[in-house]
Amino acid sequence: MAAVTVVQHSLVQHKLTLLRDRTCPTGNFRQLVKELALLLGYEVTRDLPLTTVTIETPLRPMESPKLDGKKLVFASILRAGEGLLAGLLELVPAARVCHIGLYRDHDTLRAVQYFFKAPEDMTSRQVIVVDPMLATGNSVIHAIDLLKRAGAKDIRFLCILAAPEGIARLQEAHPDVPIVTAAIDEKLNEQGYITPGLGDAGGRMFGTT
Ligand code: URA
Repeated sequence: MAAVTVVQHSLVQHKLTLLRDRTCPTGNFRQLVKELALLLGYEVTRDLPLTTVTIETPLRPMESPKLDGKKLVFASILRAGEGLLAGLLELVPAARVCHIGLYRDHDTLRAVQYFFKAPEDMTSRQVIVVDPMLATGNSVIHAIDLLKRAGAKDIRFLCILAAPEGIARLQEAHPDVPIVTAAIDEKLNEQGYITPGLGDAGGRMFGTT
């Protein structure tokens, strides 16, 4: 079973507290999600494969590590994934992007697909799927199903908050996918929201209800 990493860094925990607060305004919320993406992105990319290249410093040639040629793909689950994507693209500007349009049917809580666009040649790429909330797990499981069908083999998942129920379901469906998160909350409520959570991540990020 792939690992679940909870990033305990003090800055991550501080920013998460600001994000959870119901009085956090839309602009601050979006900014905090982006800052969390930078910090969590550091963790999720920690062991990406490196290769050695020869460069010349102003003083002399040297062998130095560089990310392996295997191009990185950030797969954003629309729409809340876009907040994390903005930060991650600042970390790795050359990364490719996959967009996966899924919405949650409010009655069944099932993920309904309306869009999927991935770069060519997914087989040889490292994919990091992003969605701030791992709640029931339906959306991310569906997204990873689609990515694997498109050929992806090396997949990680990055979120800000996870529910124990969502982690269990994701691990059951995709035991090969490591999870990186800032916190694991208590449980889901009857509406499928993470509690204590932070509410509707997409709504708070984009100022909609
Ligand atoms: N999606 C959200 O935005 N919030 C939750 O608590 C669960 C799913």
